[in-house]
Amino acid sequence: MEKILVIGPASQLLGIRIRRELGIKSVNTETKIFPDGENYLRINIDDENLIKNKEVIILQSMGPSSRVNQNARFLELLMMIDSVKVMGAYKISVIVPYLAYARQDKIFRVGECTFAKNILKVINSLGIDEFLTVDIHNPDVLEELSCKAINIDSMSILAEYIQSRGAKDIVVVSPDKGAIERSKAFAHHFGEKVPVDYFDKIRDLKTGEITMKGQLSLKNRDVVIADDIIATGGTMAQAIKLAKESGANKIFAVATHALMLQQATYRILDAGADEIIGTDSIDNEMAKVSLVKVITDYLKNN
Ligand code: R5P
Repeated sequence: MEKILVIGPASQLLGIRIRRELGIKSVNTETKIFPDGENYLRINIDDENLIKNKEVIILQSMGPSSRVNQNARFLELLMMIDSVKVMGAYKISVIVPYLAYARQDKIFRVGECTFAKNILKVINSLGIDEFLTVDIHNPDVLEELSCKAINIDSMSILAEYIQSRGAKDIVVVSPDKGAIERSKAFAHHFGEKVPVDYFDKIRDLKTGEITMKGQLSLKNRDVVIADDIIATGGTMAQAIKLAKESGANKIFAVATHALMLQQATYRILDAGADEIIGTDSIDNEMAKVSLVKVITDYLKNN
C-alpha cells in the first residue's frame, strides 16, 4: 500500500530527510493563529485521494519555537491526525520525536497530575495505529497507549558523531543519578570499557532550582555529558562546571532534544563545553545529528 508522509510545521528539516530516504510522497501543512488566539491547521493538499486509503505517517515534534509554544504544537498534531482521519487514511502512524510534557511523568507534589500520560491518552483517543517517539524521558508513560508504541534510541548515532569529532579517553557522565542506566547504555557505543559516572542533582520541587554536587576522576579525559533534554541549560551547565573542576579535557554536551531555551547556549558554552550536540528532533542550530537513519530503519522494517 502506498505511504505518504505528512510533515508538520515543527519538523520540516527531518521531514524532508525522511521523505528522501524513504522515496515517498510528502505533503506539508498550512498554519495560522486566528485573531482570538485559536490555532488553525490544514493539510496542504487539493485532492483528498492523496490520503484516502493510504498508509499515512504524521511527523510533528513538540518543541517550542519563537513563533509558537508546545501547546500549539500539540494542537497542530491533533489537527493533523484528525484531518487525515476525516480524509479516510487507512493506517495512521504518528511520529513525535520530542514529546512535550514528557517530564511531567510522576506526581512530585500533592495536587499535581501526571500530564505526560494525559497527553498520550488524548493522542490515543483520536484512533491512531502506531506511535513513535525518540528517547522519551520516561518510557513507562507509553503504557497509556493502546496502539503499538515505540521509543526509538538515538544513542548509536550520537556516539558516532562524537567519535567523528576526535573524542579520546572518553568518560560518560550523567548529570543525574536517575539517568545513570541510560548513560551506561550510551557508554557501550564508545566501547566495552568506557567508564560511566554521575553527579548528584537535587531539584527543589517548589522553586525548580537545581543544585549539583560531585567530584569525579576526569583528569585529562574527554567527557561526554549526556541528557535527554537541554531546556534552559541549567543542568548541563552545572555538570560542565563540576566536570571542569574534576580535571576534564574536552567536554561534549549532548542531548537528543536540545531545546536551547532562554540563555542555554551561553550558559553551556560559558561553563566550559567545547561543543553542544543535539538532533533534528528540534529544528535549530544544534541539530548536528539527524534522526533520519534510526527512524527510517524502523519504518523500512515494520
Ligand atoms: C530532567 O530530568 C531532564 O532529564 C533534563 O536534565 C532537564 O530537563 C534539563 O533541563 P534544563 O536544561 O532546564 O536544566
